[in-house]
Amino acid sequence: MSQWPICFEDVVAARDRIRSHLPATPLRNYAPLDGAVAAAGEAAGIRLLVKHENHQPTNAFKVRNGLSVLTALSEEESRRGVVAATRGNHGLGLAWAGRLLGVKVTICVPLGNNPEKNEALRGMGVELIELGRDYDESVEVAERLVRERGMRLVHSSNDPLVIAGAGTVALEILEDPEARRLDALVLSVGGGSQAVGALTVTRRLRPTVAVYGVQAERASACHDSWHAGRPLSTATADTFADGLATRHVYEMTFGALREGLTDFVKVSEEEIAAAVRLMIRTTHNLAEGAGAAGLAGVVRLRHRLAGRTVAVVNSGSNIDEATLRRVLSQA
Ligand SMILES: Cc1ncc(COP(=O)(O)O)c(C=O)c1O
Repeated sequence: MSQWPICFEDVVAARDRIRSHLPATPLRNYAPLDGAVAAAGEAAGIRLLVKHENHQPTNAFKVRNGLSVLTALSEEESRRGVVAATRGNHGLGLAWAGRLLGVKVTICVPLGNNPEKNEALRGMGVELIELGRDYDESVEVAERLVRERGMRLVHSSNDPLVIAGAGTVALEILEDPEARRLDALVLSVGGGSQAVGALTVTRRLRPTVAVYGVQAERASACHDSWHAGRPLSTATADTFADGLATRHVYEMTFGALREGLTDFVKVSEEEIAAAVRLMIRTTHNLAEGAGAAGLAGVVRLRHRLAGRTVAVVNSGSNIDEATLRRVLSQA
């Protein structure tokens, strides 16, 4: 058994630190979505519950992760500030928490990053450093700043406080009366904070709940590594689901994902785009690619999940206008 990065009590402690700032998000069932997801030829449909992290103040669950870290800093760490690499949502979460708590936040994004996420980050008063080819190169830039300026690095997955913050999503789901008879959770995976946080909660509170991981075919390092049983990297991570665009697995989450996930599937760009449209059409909620990837995974798994109650997280809705237009015009 691998070393589990956090314990259930860490998630409860994170929830206690963040709950006065971030009220629980809704968990809703939509009949039109259930109807659209039901598999042809399958007698039983799926009862789908959507957890609305797109209703967070930064439109993504990552604000839980950022606030979990910033509410646990020492005085010295708060004074020096924090630095993080991000494609956007992790940075937005930290920026929101930094503004709330008066902690300076420096954010490293790759060149060509989502312009609207960059604009939102600047608007929240962070120092934005645009450098590097992709997320993984931005991590190297952030690590250099830690050495040069003595700030605390907040990695988007390799940080127990981050994973504990992410675990509060699943904690709220399991505590919701709607999810009394929950059979499965289907979650998108980038670095794995969301899925490992959820596994930490399910294995303590409801070990019968199966947790499935979903990645994009064009950024599938974690999926491929999970199936191979050893860490693999990809040369590129080129998906419009930019929150999932990582080329490596991360040491704090990979072992737990290996041990805990029931299965791990990958979905194409077209399937993710179809899930964005499905989310809009049936729930009238916006989702970015990473936010709809879990739903794309449910559609992929619909024969296996027939007759079950399944929760999926709309983990974020920060899609830029040009990408949204493209996704909608493919319908
Ligand atoms: C909207 C959204 N969904 C899902 C993920 C993936 O989360 P994790 O890195 O915890 O696997 C991200 C990561 O940035 C994201 O922004």
